[in-house]
Amino acid sequence: MANGFFITFEGGEGAGKSTQIKRLAQRLRAKKYDVLETREPGGSPGAEAVRHVLLSGAAEPFGPGMEALLFAAARSDHVEQVIRPAVARGAIVLCDRFMDSSRVYQGVTGGLDAAFMRALERVAVNGMVPDLTLILDLDAEEGLKRASARRGADDGPDRYEKETLAIHQRRREAFLAIAAAEPERCAVIDASGDTEAVEARITTAVFAALETKLRNGRQATPA
Ligand code: TYD
Repeated sequence: MANGFFITFEGGEGAGKSTQIKRLAQRLRAKKYDVLETREPGGSPGAEAVRHVLLSGAAEPFGPGMEALLFAAARSDHVEQVIRPAVARGAIVLCDRFMDSSRVYQGVTGGLDAAFMRALERVAVNGMVPDLTLILDLDAEEGLKRASARRGADDGPDRYEKETLAIHQRRREAFLAIAAAEPERCAVIDASGDTEAVEARITTAVFAALETKLRNGRQATPA
């Protein structure tokens, strides 16, 4: 059976991941690819139940270790129930955040032990490493502004948005460090400027990666 392709979108708050995922999905569907859009935390019924606990801040008093375990539990369910079956049937999976968010938010700015984080990642991902990770890179202040504009006046910031600018800046650096350490998996996308310009950068990166994959014999098959 042909294998699909697993693409994750990473980056700080307000980088435009969800808008760009929708646009890429449309573009790929127009080319007759089977596309699955999903997100973390969440993406499967079990993981969506855990999402609420994490984003409401209900787990925050129990510390970053507890949060990291919950993100890992949600990820494991999402991988086994949704992502792996979709890739096995030949779909292109577009996932809004994945393991690099845990490395950055829980590992780096959560201050958790690196060996603990690696062990959790191994269990949660269980070999389902992304074929391509797009790191949407944006000035942290600009990202927070965009996130608060998107939210509107009524809703307050969520558990992670409310943290200080300095923390968001450390996260940006941490995502860039992952990209530098794993250049074969990661592409840094300049997420500044208008939506169309960012979309064009993403389209170039994704179609280049799909072509490389086709050349290497694994197929994400247009239906
Ligand atoms: P969400 O509302 O989906 O925000 P965004 O549009 O920024 O993706 O909230 C997800 C939040 O959860 C986000 O602030 C990052 C955080 N997060 C982690 O801390 N660790 C993780 O492993 C994941 C997947 C997300």
